Amino acid sequence: VADFKQRLIRFRPIGVVHSPFHVREDIDPRRNSRPDGFSDIRGELEIDPACAAGLKDIAGFSHLIVIFAFHKSESGHLLVRPPSETRRRGVFSTRSPHRPNPIGMTVVRLLGRRGNILRVAGIDMLEGTPILDIKPYTSRDSKRGVRRGWMRRSVLNR
Ligand SMILES: C[S@@+](CC[C@H](N)C(=O)[O-])C[C@H]1O[C@@H](n2cnc3c(N)ncnc32)[C@H](O)[C@@H]1O
Repeated sequence: VADFKQRLIRFRPIGVVHSPFHVREDIDPRRNSRPDGFSDIRGELEIDPACAAGLKDIAGFSHLIVIFAFHKSESGHLLVRPPSETRRRGVFSTRSPHRPNPIGMTVVRLLGRRGNILRVAGIDMLEGTPILDIKPYTSRDSKRGVRRGWMRRSVLNR
């Protein structure tokens, strides 16, 4: 069995997020506790021209999954206190930006493409966030019978 724990995995960003949020304080914390809190926030995904050929056929999808690096987060807490919560929760049961591997994912609505630039809505990332990958959001990603764990009594992710 390979010793996966020793493996250092390196990624080269494929692009960068352009967002109206330049620092975390620009984001009204109440947005984070509303499911549609960012749906009106528009921005752009600027893809490295060297990767732009990979955008072929993307225009047919209404929504995209953007996987990115939380490049401004603090490193690796295992217990975090979500906004508007009094108790600390295991980081893997949260969407906290402060996690052992600072990887984030956001589903955005694709508004249009101009060359290597994708115009999107639903941005909850900061300006300059490095993009690691983009995948189409499909009906397979929408699950039935969802249980919300500790969030069930919280306003988060309703
Ligand atoms: C609750 S996280 C959720 C992000 C993503 N939708 C997810 O589930 O992985 C969103 C918050 O992360 C913070 N954030 C966004 N981009 C960041 C970045 N590049 N580095 C550090 N923190 C970031 C902002 O404070 C934002 O309100």
